[in-house]
Amino acid sequence: MAEELQKWVVMVTAQTPTNIAVIKYWGKRDETLILPINDSISVTLDPDHLCTTTTVSVSPSFEQDRMWLNGKEISLLGGRFQSCLREIRSRARDLEDEKKGIMIKKMDWEKLHFHIASYNNFPTAAGLASSAAGLACFVFALAKLMNLNEDNGQLSAIARRGSGSACRSLYGGFVKWIMGKEENGSDSIAVQLADEKHWDDLVIVIAVVSARQKETSSTTGMQDSCKTSMLIQHRAKEVVPKRIIQMEDAIEKRDFPSFARLACADSNQFHAVCLDTSPPIFYMNDTSHKIISCVEKWNCSEGTPQVAYTFDAGPNAVLIARDRKIAALLLRRLLFHFPPHSNTDLNSYVIGDKSILQDVGVQDMKDIESLPPPPEIKDNIPAQKSNGDVSYFICTRPGRGPVLLPDSRALLNPETGLPK
Ligand code: DP6
Repeated sequence: MAEELQKWVVMVTAQTPTNIAVIKYWGKRDETLILPINDSISVTLDPDHLCTTTTVSVSPSFEQDRMWLNGKEISLLGGRFQSCLREIRSRARDLEDEKKGIMIKKMDWEKLHFHIASYNNFPTAAGLASSAAGLACFVFALAKLMNLNEDNGQLSAIARRGSGSACRSLYGGFVKWIMGKEENGSDSIAVQLADEKHWDDLVIVIAVVSARQKETSSTTGMQDSCKTSMLIQHRAKEVVPKRIIQMEDAIEKRDFPSFARLACADSNQFHAVCLDTSPPIFYMNDTSHKIISCVEKWNCSEGTPQVAYTFDAGPNAVLIARDRKIAALLLRRLLFHFPPHSNTDLNSYVIGDKSILQDVGVQDMKDIESLPPPPEIKDNIPAQKSNGDVSYFICTRPGRGPVLLPDSRALLNPETGLPK
């Protein structure tokens, strides 16, 4: 490359959603290729409320690969980043930017370095699948930059090498990760079951539960389960295959009672596997259990499920309401049982799609304090209130898959390739 051409920076910015599994992935049959022991199904969450934005850039003036996450430089040397990078580089094609007069040949990609900046629009520390959105965005953006020809299904197999659950973030709506049979993992990919418009009545409320201790990572947790739990084998072989068929059917028919029963049962079985692990893993805490009881009591009193709950490898509850009216009734119950500390601003206690608060009919702390107990709570059992056990709520819905964003949204300076 000629000296005078060394100045250019080419970049791509993308946005990728996070996802919540309603039939869980737990356990690998290959640790390096990240191949699961069962299929899983997830709902993609609206990126307006939960997403990762990533800018990837390349320039002959970059001396090494560098990455910044939420403004802080992090190492790219980890095996998982490296295997994604290797997979993408091996599929890179010629790139020509006629306007800028830049031509990058297929073989040049091996010698060029990248600068990558990534930003989550939700607190990373909240324990909400940030790695899924992050790794999916990393792969999607780099694949666009290097002009790959692969479709999102093929890209999902690369994102899988970064973090298993990341492969499901390559699509919007309802997504299945097919475990595959091949030893090389080529058929372990994500497929879209239905897009986000298919079932747009659903409303999702996430209770971000204040966690005190650091939990076991999913990666080590599932390794320990595979080594020590007998239940995990039964789950993967006997239970999940049937549930996958039933869940696909429930999604196709928008059959909420079946969807909710399956999602709750699968979350509970995943946590039962964690308890069956030696030493046992406790991802849920007292607040998580209280939320389950609240939903179960309500569902039971209505005679049919109104809300589904599911918990990943942490105490946060993801609650899926059949429609907006039910979501407002759910939030009413949640605010009754889990009011914020008295000095909290309601505007920061319920975030995301705040418009649901109007349907709930609460505007300030005084309104929350005067909420009546839900009718399913019997007079002889005093209603429990747990101030401060929930950090905040996020109201959201099923959402779209990855998109490219214009350069005006880039996180890197187009001249220097450094964070803005
Ligand atoms: C409980 O995808 O984080 O969220 O593949 O080791 O990176 P690695 O694990 P990860 O595991 C997610 C587990 C889960 C269930 C799910 O998302 O299906």
